[in-house]
Order: sequence, then C-alpha cells, then structure tokens
Amino acid sequence: MGNVLIIGAGGVGNVVAHKVCQSANYFDRVMLASRTLDKCNKIAAKLPRPIETAQVDADNVQELVALINRFKPDLVMNIALPYQDLSIMEACLATRVHYLDTANYEPKDVAKFEYSWQWAYREKFKQAGIMALLGCGFDPGVSGVFTAYANKHHFDEMHYLDIVDCNAGSHGKHFATNFNPEINIREITQKGRFWENSKWNETEPLSVHQLVDYPEIGPKESYLMYHEELESLVINFPSIKRARFWMTFSENYLTHLRVLEHVGMTSIKPVRYQGMEIIPLQFLKAVLPEPSTLGENYSGITSIGCQIRGKKDGKDKTYFIYNNCDHAQCYAEVGAQAVSYTTGVPAMIGAMMMLTGQWMKPGVYNVEEFDPDPFMEQLGAYGLPWHEKINCELAFK
Ligand SMILES: NC(=O)c1ccc[n+]([C@@H]2O[C@H](COP(=O)([O-])OP(=O)(O)OC[C@H]3O[C@@H](n4cnc5c(N)ncnc54)[C@H](OP(=O)(O)O)[C@@H]3O)[C@@H](O)[C@H]2O)c1
Repeated sequence: MGNVLIIGAGGVGNVVAHKVCQSANYFDRVMLASRTLDKCNKIAAKLPRPIETAQVDADNVQELVALINRFKPDLVMNIALPYQDLSIMEACLATRVHYLDTANYEPKDVAKFEYSWQWAYREKFKQAGIMALLGCGFDPGVSGVFTAYANKHHFDEMHYLDIVDCNAGSHGKHFATNFNPEINIREITQKGRFWENSKWNETEPLSVHQLVDYPEIGPKESYLMYHEELESLVINFPSIKRARFWMTFSENYLTHLRVLEHVGMTSIKPVRYQGMEIIPLQFLKAVLPEPSTLGENYSGITSIGCQIRGKKDGKDKTYFIYNNCDHAQCYAEVGAQAVSYTTGVPAMIGAMMMLTGQWMKPGVYNVEEFDPDPFMEQLGAYGLPWHEKINCELAFK
C-alpha cells in the first residue's frame, strides 16, 4: 500500500485515476493534480472511490515540492507531458519520493526526444534511495515488457525486433490525434530512425512504409518511425541486430497532416501574431479536439505488438506477442478511448509493481530492466489481455 500523486488530468490521467481506484488493495490515498483544477474535479466525480484533487503547475519545481510535502505521496506519476519530466524528477529528488512516467523528456524548443536527460539522474536517484521508472505506458512500456518476456521465455538470442502499432478505430472527426496533439505531431513529423548494423539509420519522415497483417484487423499500411523505446531496448538486449517501430496512419490523417505542415501550422518556431509571439503548433493544439473527448463515438480496435526473430536451442524462432483493445469497451468502462486506456493501464501496473516492491531498486530504469512476469500477470487482469503466436508466418518482411 502507498499514497500516489497523479499529475495530469487529460485522456491518460483519467484512465490512471480510474485504474488506481479499481485497485484499492495497492493504493492508499490518491491525489489527482493538474494545471486545470476543474478537469481533476470532473474526473474525480466519476471515480468509484473518493480522491483528493489539486491545482499545480508542473513546470514549477517549488510548487511541486510544496504539493508533495503537503500530500506526502510515496510515488508521483507524471501523466502530464514529457516537458514536465525533469521538473517532476527534480521535485521527487528534493522530497525523496519515487517517480514514474510514460514518455521521455523533450525540450519545448527542439522536437527531439531521447533518454540522455533522464538517464543523467541515475546516480542522484541512487544516492537519494529513490527509484524512477521511465516510459511505462504501452509503447514505450508494454512493448519493452513484451520484449523482456520474449527474451526470458522464448529466445537464447533475439536478433530482429519490430514493434507494430495499429489504430484501426474511427472517432468520426475530420482530424484529431489520440494523445496530446502537440506531442503527437512533433513525434510523427520527425525523421524516421531504426537500429541496424550497430548504428542508427535515418529515413525521411514517413517515407518508408509497408503492409503489416494485424491480428483480427488484416493488412494495414504501416510507417517506419523513430520511437523512444528502441533506444533503451538495443542497449539492454545487445544481441538485437535490427530494431524498428511501425505505426499505421489513415490516408485521411496523412492528407490533413501534409496540408498543416505545408502551411506552417506544425512548426515550433515562434511567429509574430497581433503583436505577440505564438508557436503555430501550440495554436493548432488549442483548436483540435482534446484526446479525452474522443471516446464517446469511437468504434474499432487497436493492436500493438512485437514481432521478434532469433535463436532458441540452436534453431531459428519467430515470436509475435500482442494486445488488441476495443475503443467502445474502454469507453464503457472508464469513459476513454483505447489509446488513453492502453497507456493508463500499464502506468497503473508499473506503480503497483513499485509500491509492492516487485520492481524496486534505487536509480533510474526502463521497464525491460525488471522481471516481466509479475507485470504480465496483471496486464490481462486489468483489461489488456495478451496473445502469443510461436513460429507463425511473419506479419511482414
Ligand atoms: N507510452 C505510451 O504508450 C503513451 C501513449 C500515449 C500518450 N502518452 C503520454 O501520456 C501523456 C498524457 O497524454 P494525454 O493524451 O493524456 O494528453 P492530454 O490529454 O493533453 O493531457 C495532458 C494533461 O497534462 C496537463 N498538463 C500539461 N502541462 C501541465 C503543467 N505544466 N502542469 C500541470 N499539468 C499540465 C494538461 O493540463 P490542461 O488540461 O490544463 O492542458 C492535461 O490535463 C503524454 O506525456 C503522452 O506523451 C504515452
């Protein structure tokens, strides 16, 4: 049992709050804090048990420290944005409280994400006797746990890793992103990157694509992108010769994105507008639907998994592990679409792993550095059942 402070009351924050409340055996007192108090209160009103709420600016370390000292959590879950990773880690260090997040730090003024900024805290966290668990959503998060599980139970050596992420759902809007629009568009418009021949290889944004056959969905065009878990997985599993990440986008989504890019709306360079400076992408975010509002009429499913090839007992082996998740079922359960749900459930399970001591050692870690088994046991129980295919036909090349 422990007290938990959840920061961020968006699409994912709502799911984390519901799931923490569903697992009352593991979580004692719960607080949901965010920039806009009203959003915390609206979520709290729908939860099966009472929680506390608060307003906080998570960019401000002093404010965070004051809130942590007041509420006295054992763990702070950063479910706000990657921009806040370092300020919340600083506040956790100052108060000696454990930390968890779902996305790695990126500076506001450079569209670049990598673990270096957060891995730099390893020694400080170790000295303080506290733990940080990085990237504990679905991807990153379950994708790393799936890979660790494959390594532990199915391979002597993993050689080829492909993480495949499909959203075959429909929200009925002309254009919307399934998680924070600013973070999502920054990620998608970056160059692609994959690991091969012991180095990172770059591709033009969304220029490499192929059909991937997703279970219960069928073939969908999938685009090679850089995704942060690749960075830690190729270090933690050095036998991996090639690691890639693929995501589906509809033609409609890509057409809208291209137009927005061409007219400059996805830029993060400030422009003068009516006597003040604004960032076009931040303005775009303000007019797009919020991820937390997409759930109501969302139909269809998501499918996220890992296809791995390697050697077991001297023989070639192919292994595919995945979860499929239904948007409408998520909405019926917690009032969220499946992208928020598949992120929020693993975040809650990561918190449970830490507070029960099953994943607990001082320092800064990625999920695949821990025993995957207890996490995998909880995944199905809390709404994300997983399936395996062994020596199956490849879903793609
Ligand atoms: N690993 C994965 O699989 C995965 C998948 C999807 C998303 N994610 C991550 O999950 C996180 C949340 O995504 P989401 O879809 O829930 O986004 P969202 O709906 O936009 O919610 C973000 C929340 O953070 C709050 N916030 C932003 N800046 C803040 C600040 N300075 N202080 C306090 N609160 C602040 C926002 O407050 P306002 O409402 O006032 O703006 C909002 O409530 C993001 O980091 C995203 O990258 C991870």
